[in-house]
Amino acid sequence: MLGVLDNNNLNGGQKLAVKYFSVAVILFVAQILFGLIAGMQFIMPDLFFNVLDFNVTRMVHINAMVVWLLMGFMGSIYWLLEDEAGVETVGLKLGNLAFWLLTSAVTVVVLVYLFIQVGPGDDFTRWFVNEGREYIEAPRWADIGIVVCMLIFFYNAAATFMKGRWSGISGVLILDLVALAGIYLAGMFYTTNISVDQFWWWWVIHLWVEATWEVLVGCIMAWGLIKLLGARRQIVTTWLYIEVALMFGSGILGLGHHYFWIGTPEYWLSIGGFFSALEPVPLVAMVVHSVYDSGAHKFKAANHPAMAWLIAHTFGNFFGAGVWGFMHTLPQINLYTHGTQWTASHGHLAFFGAYATIVIAVFYIAVQQWRGGVWMSGGLAGNGWKWKWALGLLNGGVLGMTMALLIAGYEQSFIERAIEGSTWQGYFVAQVHPWFIQGMNWRMVFGVVTAMGIVLLVWDLLTIGKGENRAKQEV
Ligand code: HEM
Ligand code: HEM
Ligand SMILES: [Fe+2]
Repeated sequence: MLGVLDNNNLNGGQKLAVKYFSVAVILFVAQILFGLIAGMQFIMPDLFFNVLDFNVTRMVHINAMVVWLLMGFMGSIYWLLEDEAGVETVGLKLGNLAFWLLTSAVTVVVLVYLFIQVGPGDDFTRWFVNEGREYIEAPRWADIGIVVCMLIFFYNAAATFMKGRWSGISGVLILDLVALAGIYLAGMFYTTNISVDQFWWWWVIHLWVEATWEVLVGCIMAWGLIKLLGARRQIVTTWLYIEVALMFGSGILGLGHHYFWIGTPEYWLSIGGFFSALEPVPLVAMVVHSVYDSGAHKFKAANHPAMAWLIAHTFGNFFGAGVWGFMHTLPQINLYTHGTQWTASHGHLAFFGAYATIVIAVFYIAVQQWRGGVWMSGGLAGNGWKWKWALGLLNGGVLGMTMALLIAGYEQSFIERAIEGSTWQGYFVAQVHPWFIQGMNWRMVFGVVTAMGIVLLVWDLLTIGKGENRAKQEV
């Protein structure tokens, strides 16, 4: 029945996808809660001292982010799998098992983070408590579990396309998944030399977010434009190929912008500066392409909230990664901005703008189908304000935080680095400057705006389309 949440409206892959989406939403909420605590600790440094220290709140904040985005991506692929391949998902039982494995592993890891927190610097800690690499701190046993789940996921996707039909989108997707899983392995071996360790660690972090994740969302975007606007497959696929070529062409050696100051050879200064400065090019192409497509179809879309979030993604990716990344990517500038709140400003706008947005778009696509393919275009019965306010509060909140952090980062680069010459004393002079303190306060104000946005988003996802009895707009 239209407007009623019912698993019978979903195919096998989609049933699994909504499980992933549910866990993703819970972790998104956890991310924001821990972000709020971490942000408060800048203003009240003794908040939860010795109970939940900043290093723990920060770690939970960013780990929850990485995991909810990954689960969102996996869900998105299970979501489009049968539709794109034209056959039922292969090996779904195994896929379900992997979901429960992954979810239990994540739960155990988070509990250990919260209750054990730290251990001595030995093998036991590395295997069972915390591996100590930012963003991928999960202990070694969980690493291995994640690899196993990723292999099952890969098998589900690849085997389904092999049994059904291939398309340009699915071809790019499968090759990208090989790269994504392969690169994760680079973060899994241990060395005692911190330069060598960081060298490989960046393979995971940079090559994920600036290469394989970008290509992955490119595939989701291409499929989304076909579904939401009725865009022509040939056109979006051609764009996808061009974007992938540009993305890998600039993003792989763009890795060098993390090799400026970690003890790697000097040639990385020019390689990193040059190639990473080209990274915004594919992002411009993406903006042009999606805005052109939307215009060409006069914004007549089957799902307005999802379409709005796809557009938020396009601009968020362009500004957060492209513009905010470019600002500090030349070594001459990075010398002053490296590791300041400038970096955090870019990190927030890029991760939210490029990735959180597109996963939220797929949440809306899923809810529409889950309720039997209800109307989600203009004139939603009674409930239309919620998605718009959630969209506005979340984007406005993150943008506000980004600006507050940028001002704090500018002050740090100027006072701590340029005037005080990067001294220990300079660090503290910069920390007590009014521009820094006000930046930290405004970050909290906009953090609360972001938090209100997520409350509304969750409420909306639970209620949108309820009782709606019109079928979705045909495109
Ligand atoms: C969606 C894509 C992107 C995401 C999610 C992202 C995210 C991040 C994050 C979280 C950091 C901080 C890493 C740390 O903990 O040290 C970072 C650093 C950096 N990003 Fe990006 N980024 C993206 C794309 C780009 C692009 C396209 C450029 C260049 C045009 C860029 C340039 C940089 C630079 C130069 C740094 C180092 C900052 C420093 O020295 O402290 N990023 N990025
Ligand atoms: C209530 C909203 C939020 C607050 C108050 C908040 C606060 C914080 C704080 C205090 C840090 C540590 C920064 C530092 O070490 O100096 C942080 C790091 C980070 N947050 Fe958030 N955050 C929020 C929402 C988000 C969202 C929505 C995203 C992305 C989807 C995000 C992504 C990140 C990333 C990638 C880092 C690491 C940045 C880096 O290493 O430079 N945060 N956040
Ligand atoms: Fe990078």
